[in-house]
Amino acid sequence: DLKDNTIIIVLGASGDLAKKKTFPALFGLYRQGFLPRDTKIVGYARTKMDKAEFEKRTTSYIKGVDENPEVANSLEAFKQTLSYVAGGYEDGESFDNLNAHLESIESHYQTKECNRIFYLALPPSVFIPVTKNIKEHCYVTKGGVNRIIIEKPFGKDLQSARDLLGSVKQYWSEEETFRIDHYLGKEMVKNLLVLRFANVAMGAFWDKNSISNVQITFKEPFGTEGRGGYFDEFGIIRDILQNHLLQVLTILAMERPVSFAAEDIRDEKVKVLRAIPPIEKEDTLLGQYVSANGKPGYLDDDTVPPGSICPTFAATTLFIHNPRWEGVPFILKAGKALNEAKVEVRIQFKDVTQGIFKDIARNELVIRIQPSEAVYLKINAKTPGLRTRAIPTEMDVTYKRRFTEAKIPEAYESLILDALRGDHSNFVRHDELDYAWKIFTPILHWIDGKNGPRPRPSAYPYGSRGPKELTAFIEKYGYKRLADAYFWPVTNMA
Ligand code: BG6
Repeated sequence: DLKDNTIIIVLGASGDLAKKKTFPALFGLYRQGFLPRDTKIVGYARTKMDKAEFEKRTTSYIKGVDENPEVANSLEAFKQTLSYVAGGYEDGESFDNLNAHLESIESHYQTKECNRIFYLALPPSVFIPVTKNIKEHCYVTKGGVNRIIIEKPFGKDLQSARDLLGSVKQYWSEEETFRIDHYLGKEMVKNLLVLRFANVAMGAFWDKNSISNVQITFKEPFGTEGRGGYFDEFGIIRDILQNHLLQVLTILAMERPVSFAAEDIRDEKVKVLRAIPPIEKEDTLLGQYVSANGKPGYLDDDTVPPGSICPTFAATTLFIHNPRWEGVPFILKAGKALNEAKVEVRIQFKDVTQGIFKDIARNELVIRIQPSEAVYLKINAKTPGLRTRAIPTEMDVTYKRRFTEAKIPEAYESLILDALRGDHSNFVRHDELDYAWKIFTPILHWIDGKNGPRPRPSAYPYGSRGPKELTAFIEKYGYKRLADAYFWPVTNMA
């Protein structure tokens, strides 16, 4: 754990990520007493602004200030930890200036050993000069630790990711580098290891013998809305599937780690990735939303290049060639501008052996990551009463009902705290990223038209469930939809 002599430097402090996620998370940690005492937070960006303007910008997304005097008070105290330095990203001189500011803060600390945590909330275009400049101009060498926290996009395909990460590696060791995938900080994703390995019952059915197919789904009810410039360059696969959903997959599928140590966990995740061959284009469905019900289509977003055929929806199916999972399809699906906000894992089990039951509903284990965290298992039970019929029902752990007092932390709070503690378990190791890119690069090149004509995504209306081909796509991999409010008539019992 870091002690009371730590500075967190947020580079890109005037940008969107810093404003929406980094600063609110830092404040959350501060308020709950999780930041080392006397921690100072320094913002750095190109924009020239005074302290008041900086405070206004960085605290604009903090919730509860108007309603709760206690939050307002802590926010005032939090502001005392903040300071801001303006400077460029490319020139060493600006970083000397930042370093002078950091040293002046550190001169007030009791000890000579000072820790610096650099959080890069920056666009990829300045990643390389910044990692170089902070190493050359702002790195503390008198004891203490230096760490950098970085976040996607880590390149656009295998080669560009290798180039980018290779450059960072010249200056920062793996030990010092924390690659964020914020899905790893989500409560329900962190729960997966406990759910799987602390329950003998779960372990017993967690394989190809019982499971027919697995879906990992990300749905957002809004479109790019002004973020089209970034999005169009990357597309939904790089934005969500290759990182967030693939990370969830590896934790679902990995073998039991030898311990909870970061390297033991990440070793097992890497083994899963290595057993997944590159995705085939036949196992891919692409979509792009179009205007509907007064909502704009993707191409109506002014920040999107005219005529773009960038996918805003994708479903891809992956297979894991190992003894536990051979033949089980893992379907990853993600889309913008869909009918609801939901991220969940749906594990569908095989049919009950025919004989006494025919066409009875399958079991499903659903792990809802957000909103409203829940784990529920769909089971068949006898309808209560004198008649014998089966009815699908569920065993349900909905967090709001079961853990009424619990405050679920924000993903970024949990991850920044891990980085302060030096725990890499919930960060992405360099080899994980390399294998993740190997799996996705061939279909990304196909979508980008590298080896032929670019595929056209199927149009789906804003606010719908996705492209019309989706139902057939999922069914192709064995998924059976359970009828809503399904009743099992006794006459169907063989
Ligand atoms: C980000 C993507 O990584 O995750 C965004 O770039 C997406 O496009 C976001 O909206 C979703 O995160 P969350 O935590 O809201 O599910």
